[in-house]
Amino acid sequence: MATGVWLVGARGSVAATSIAGAAAIRAGLAEPTGCVTELPQLQVASLPPLGDLVFGGHDVADTPLAKKADALAAAGVVPARLVAAVAGELAAADAEIRPAPTAATQREAAALVAADITDFRDRHRLERVVVVNVASTEPLVQPHPAHADLDALEDQLGRSAPVLPPSSLYAYAAFTAGCSHVDFTPSTGARLPALAELARRRGLPHAGHDGKTGETLVKSVLAPMFAMRNLRVRTWSGTNLLGGGDGANLADPGPNAAKASSKQRVLAETLGYEPQGHTRIEYVDDIGDFKTAWDLVTFTGFLGTAMRMEFSWHGCDSALAAPLVLDLARLTAAAHRAGRSGPLTELAFFFKDPIDSGALGGKVPHGLVEQWAALAAFARGLGDA
Ligand SMILES: NC(=O)c1ccc[n+]([C@@H]2O[C@H](COP(=O)([O-])OP(=O)(O)OC[C@H]3O[C@@H](n4cnc5c(N)ncnc54)[C@H](O)[C@@H]3O)[C@@H](O)[C@H]2O)c1
Repeated sequence: MATGVWLVGARGSVAATSIAGAAAIRAGLAEPTGCVTELPQLQVASLPPLGDLVFGGHDVADTPLAKKADALAAAGVVPARLVAAVAGELAAADAEIRPAPTAATQREAAALVAADITDFRDRHRLERVVVVNVASTEPLVQPHPAHADLDALEDQLGRSAPVLPPSSLYAYAAFTAGCSHVDFTPSTGARLPALAELARRRGLPHAGHDGKTGETLVKSVLAPMFAMRNLRVRTWSGTNLLGGGDGANLADPGPNAAKASSKQRVLAETLGYEPQGHTRIEYVDDIGDFKTAWDLVTFTGFLGTAMRMEFSWHGCDSALAAPLVLDLARLTAAAHRAGRSGPLTELAFFFKDPIDSGALGGKVPHGLVEQWAALAAFARGLGDA
């Protein structure tokens, strides 16, 4: 039986690249480069094959997927010949994208979201559906007492004033529809105690959050190096320039703050202290989906000798993110099938700000090598379930 991937933000760059990429790989027109689940260490029989993923989703935009994919091809994100070759698959996925529902209360809106997902699962006779949030980043959420208690939340959802940000409402709807959930964004999503409780009660796994694809990925390799060599990092300052829809959204101070705090966490976690410096995010329209990060690291060694390193990273955001979205969908579906529930801390490898479930002794690894070991052990544990 096939597995459904329900993308919240299904008409965005990451979503369109994921859908086009899965179709191109299935047709044998592209290699699965960048998909870590295709590495021998992670290949276990319980992972749904890439070719068995069926896509649908919600979006507030109505640009057809084919048009979005053409724009990505024109920007050099995906090859134009592949977009043309998978036009049929893009049209099929486009027909499965529903407008984000609106209703008088959030309870009604969540029921409409859940009904769309259930209808998708039933019509395609899917074994299960993984809901993946790849929608625009939201500002940090205003705390509300109902976020801490599922019964209080259920009560508040029936009132006219919204209590959840959209990302969390989608997570709530996913869980009520019996689906696992992945948050690829820094938005609040399922990261509220009331929603964690809902996932636990329903026996559903969830993973997040904020996909690690660029500057933070490099930091998660370099910071443990400084720590292991007992070199004292004094400053770590980074400037990220990005365009595209994500860049335009992050020009807004609210989402920008959510993203920047998620990007700096790896340093305190891996070094054990916070060096000076900040991560800045700036929108540069002209560079589209290609992101540039410049980082300056100053550090001291033996007898206090001052040294420095600098790096620059030029990455194509959606091309880096899309294979991870496919990996996360496959791994989370396999975890659901294996009866795992609650936060999947072992998927920390994929995230800037991974969720802690206590599964790894209450310590979430932030260094990439440790995260890789946890991921490989997790995949072996799923085995042939
Ligand atoms: N590309 C990367 O490397 C990377 C890494 C980590 C995280 N992310 C996150 O992934 C997300 C998607 O990035 P992108 O480049 O595809 O952005 P994008 O702007 O191209 O796409 C976002 C999509 O979300 C839709 N959307 C907005 N609000 C919505 C709502 N309430 N319901 C449904 N859909 C909604 C928009 O209409 C748009 O189609 C962003 O939050 C970004 O921060 C991306």
